[in-house]
Amino acid sequence: KKINILGISGSLRSDSTNAIILRAIESLLPENVTFQIFNGLDEMPHFSPGLEEPDAVMKFKRALQLADAVIISTPEYAFGVPGTLKNALDWTVATGEFNEKPVAAISASPLNTGGDKALASLLLTLTALGTVRNENSYLSIPNVKSKIVEGKIADQNTIELLKIQVANLLSLIYIRS
Ligand code: FNR
Repeated sequence: KKINILGISGSLRSDSTNAIILRAIESLLPENVTFQIFNGLDEMPHFSPGLEEPDAVMKFKRALQLADAVIISTPEYAFGVPGTLKNALDWTVATGEFNEKPVAAISASPLNTGGDKALASLLLTLTALGTVRNENSYLSIPNVKSKIVEGKIADQNTIELLKIQVANLLSLIYIRS
């Protein structure tokens, strides 16, 4: 069966370490899996209940509907989830695009704390959204800058941990289908 996974980076930077993590994940996926990284979190207006949905939000919801699973990789800003990412997630609360969707959550940080507070906060939001996860569905990557060389992950341990994330996410998809 063909499987679609959507990647979401919580960083808008073009040379984002979290975007590099997502691209590394793409190279670890089996052949029957298509992977698309969502572009356009920054096109969405600030969420407010009752606001009419602009095209940018519909584009996000459509991408989620087409995805069998989602992988989010995010930085930590001021001990929390970047506002852009939280805003995008908030847009889906009433319409439930994340409900029953297997999700893997990753935080990458240049600090040795690995963005663990943003990850914990993200997991709370993912719980509120009704996503499908288990005790292996999250990964914090500390000291990420030292693990990337020329735009690629150069740390074998991190690659192994990402492989485990992928295998775990695929198992959650298969259990549900
Ligand atoms: C940061 N950074 C950061 N890192 C962290 O681990 N905890 C934090 O609370 C913060 N806070 C923070 C605030 C602001 C305003 C900036 C600009 C940065 C550092 C952050 O992890 C680093 O810039 C990452 O490289 C961002 O991820 P991307 O863009 O490389 O994916």
